[in-house]
Amino acid sequence: MEWEYLVEKAIKAKENAYVPYSEFRVGAAVLTDSGKVFVGCNVENASYGAAICAERTAVVKAVSEGDTKIKAIAITSDSQDYTFPCGICRQVIAEFCDEETQVICSNKNGKYVRYYVKDILPHAFTKKDLL
Ligand code: THU
Repeated sequence: MEWEYLVEKAIKAKENAYVPYSEFRVGAAVLTDSGKVFVGCNVENASYGAAICAERTAVVKAVSEGDTKIKAIAITSDSQDYTFPCGICRQVIAEFCDEETQVICSNKNGKYVRYYVKDILPHAFTKKDLL
């Protein structure tokens, strides 16, 4: 799988962003170990706190379809800058990642940088930390 392909999926997913409040469109695409791609966008709400980010939309779609191992996730927005996942989304990605999982942060033109999850969420709190 080409990373560019996943970024293109995220750019396409951004078209469905429901953002009447922030007008900041975000798209995400998750590649799982089965080879499937699950896409998502941000979905806002009049009760602002009920908004869900694009990354979590995509991850929850994958997990709810039985795919719990993320190989890569691409994120994009309409910004010239790379879009990085917010803190909550980093935590959710960490739940379903391994050491190899790639986080692909893209700008609006599809230019991207790639990170391992541990580099954008060091000392993550995970299952192993629970008593
Ligand atoms: N947003 C995402 O979808 N992903 C992120 O990682 C950062 C923020 C959304 C939430 C909200 O709809 C809008 O961007 C502005 O914060």
